[in-house]
Amino acid sequence: MKKFNPVVPNFPHMLHGGDYNPDQWKAFPEIISDDFKYFDKANVNTVSIGIFSWVEFEPEDGVYNFEFFDKIMDNLAAQGMKACLATPSAGKPHWLGIKYPDILPVNEAGVRGRRGGRGGFCKSSPDFRRKIHDLNTAMAEHYKDHPALGMWHISNECCGECYCERCQNNFREWLKKKYKTLDAINAAYWNSFWGHTYTDWSEIVVTDKSVHALILDWKRYVNDLLADYIAWEAAALKKVTPDVPVTTNMMETDGIDYKKVAKVVDVVSWDSYPRWHALGDAHMYSGIKTAFWHDRFRSMGKKPFMLMECAPSFNSWLEVNKGKKPGMHKLASMQAIAHGSESVQYFQWRKSRGGFEKFHGAVVDHCGRDDTRVFKEVSEVGAALAKLDEVVGTMNVSRVAIIYDIENAWALNEMAGARKPKKYEDLCLKFYKPLWKKGISCDVIEACDELDSYDLVIVPALYMADDAACERIAKFVENGGTLLSTYFTGWVDENDLCRLGGFPGGKLAEVFGVWSEDLECLHNGEKNTARMIKSVDGLKDSYEIIEYCDLLHTKNDDVEVLAEFADDYYAGMPALTVNKYGKGKAYYMGFKNEGDFMADILGKLTDELGIKGAADIELPENAAITMRTDGENDYLFVQNYNSNDINITLDGEYFDMLEDKTVSGTLTIDKYGIRILKRSAK
Ligand code: GLA
Ligand code: ZN
Repeated sequence: MKKFNPVVPNFPHMLHGGDYNPDQWKAFPEIISDDFKYFDKANVNTVSIGIFSWVEFEPEDGVYNFEFFDKIMDNLAAQGMKACLATPSAGKPHWLGIKYPDILPVNEAGVRGRRGGRGGFCKSSPDFRRKIHDLNTAMAEHYKDHPALGMWHISNECCGECYCERCQNNFREWLKKKYKTLDAINAAYWNSFWGHTYTDWSEIVVTDKSVHALILDWKRYVNDLLADYIAWEAAALKKVTPDVPVTTNMMETDGIDYKKVAKVVDVVSWDSYPRWHALGDAHMYSGIKTAFWHDRFRSMGKKPFMLMECAPSFNSWLEVNKGKKPGMHKLASMQAIAHGSESVQYFQWRKSRGGFEKFHGAVVDHCGRDDTRVFKEVSEVGAALAKLDEVVGTMNVSRVAIIYDIENAWALNEMAGARKPKKYEDLCLKFYKPLWKKGISCDVIEACDELDSYDLVIVPALYMADDAACERIAKFVENGGTLLSTYFTGWVDENDLCRLGGFPGGKLAEVFGVWSEDLECLHNGEKNTARMIKSVDGLKDSYEIIEYCDLLHTKNDDVEVLAEFADDYYAGMPALTVNKYGKGKAYYMGFKNEGDFMADILGKLTDELGIKGAADIELPENAAITMRTDGENDYLFVQNYNSNDINITLDGEYFDMLEDKTVSGTLTIDKYGIRILKRSAK
């Protein structure tokens, strides 16, 4: 197994730092000089600069000025640090909007946005594209040989849509290219419903929210435009600095189909803001969700990723902005590393004195001191990361994958019927949690991804799947894979047209060997029971059902019914089935359960398949082990998210990388504690 190259070429270290905005402090040279002293103290080696600095780089149209940032770059180089140098498209200058008003985005009501705010530009504007292309080219030319240039950070959480006439017409052209004829689009959209049939392409009302397939296509178009825009920015940089990697910081959202953006950058990076210390179960729910999203971004690039932003302490945009309790910051940072990140970067290095985010947590507060708790804990994280050079380039290896498909999320959320909200991500998390708890590595992939490398694939509620996805899933089972799916699987094709002949449809009908007559919905608080009619190792006699009951029929006698519904008019109908298909098996779970069923069935399936957790170590609730490896050494990240210390019994001898000593037997892990244990690869 080969190690991946470090994300910054020839800089084989975990990156530690964050968003740094020295241009806000031009009038305070002593503060900038403190920053550089503090970088060393906090063990910071990488900062993201220039993110909102367009007006600094280009104070008037076509006039570039890199003087101020030259000094910053030189200082970084002198300290052996790297810059994640941002293209400043998220901080458009006022002069740009005044001179080229068509760069400003238009909302759905047709109103052009005002200047100010941040982000917010029309990605199809030729003026905007020309201006950013020229600026990126100038920046790349200027800094191409600078030793501090580590990587390019394109824009900032780039997103948004625009309904200007040009964008609307471009969308109509996009549709023409896709469907070719009006007959084809009318058929795909089922436009005879409510008399929507188009007789000319110009009739397409882009904002019509009554045509589900149109909504989907608009989202796809907006997403393609985003990927095209990022590629446009990247191309200008790549032309001058082909070997400097580019990234763009992504977000935890089902609104953007980032896999397309991932294709046009070198490194996937994302911004993570979990709700640590939320009350009750919400703390760990947020923690597990964060693990899931780390896995998603790792799976997207199929290599280590970067944590580009996290709060060193407080957020500023929550209802209750809590600090991280002692230890939590290191634990959360190492959670990212455990799941494949090569960096821990912050928003923000120093709190701004004014402006919208002046009270968002930072490494350096308004007090300007380096002896605050936050500063000390950040420094500890830096010191710990500095001990992990050998982990750089190692990877998480997964025999299990969950399909969490963003286009499917769009379709499910739009679907009128069943229950609201659809809670798709939550359902995926219910399957993810027991794997996380057992230390079983899991990739989080999409329906278009290859499945060959997995033994177990979990496909919750894949309501929308095109023929190719259905075929791929079928092939996976045929070749010996184990598949676990739920209600809501295989209802519609990529145009949101229902599959005829029963759900699950398409090739999936054969794979599961069942058809669903109706999807019965339960009120909140209403329950039913899935009663096992066969005794299955690892499963209990019955499971509580909430929200959904899929009223199933088997298609033939070979399909095994494992459980049936206990109550109501559909008592006795199959609730859980398994079908042998080719060399594999396909389980269909026709009900929803809070989670104990997921834990039990995944326990059974992983046992059967010999899929093991990272170590044979018993862990209490809210603790987990996540592993990276290079095939020679395994690195186990033992995480305790509890507010109390825990004791664990090791299954052998390990080297504790942060404590620099060999450990075995019983090990205490502090509250919100983390241990990084190394062993020879198993
Ligand atoms: C995002 C942005 C940052 C900052 C933080 C605040 O991640 O990229 O510029 O606004 O949120 O949490
Ligand atoms: Zn536009």
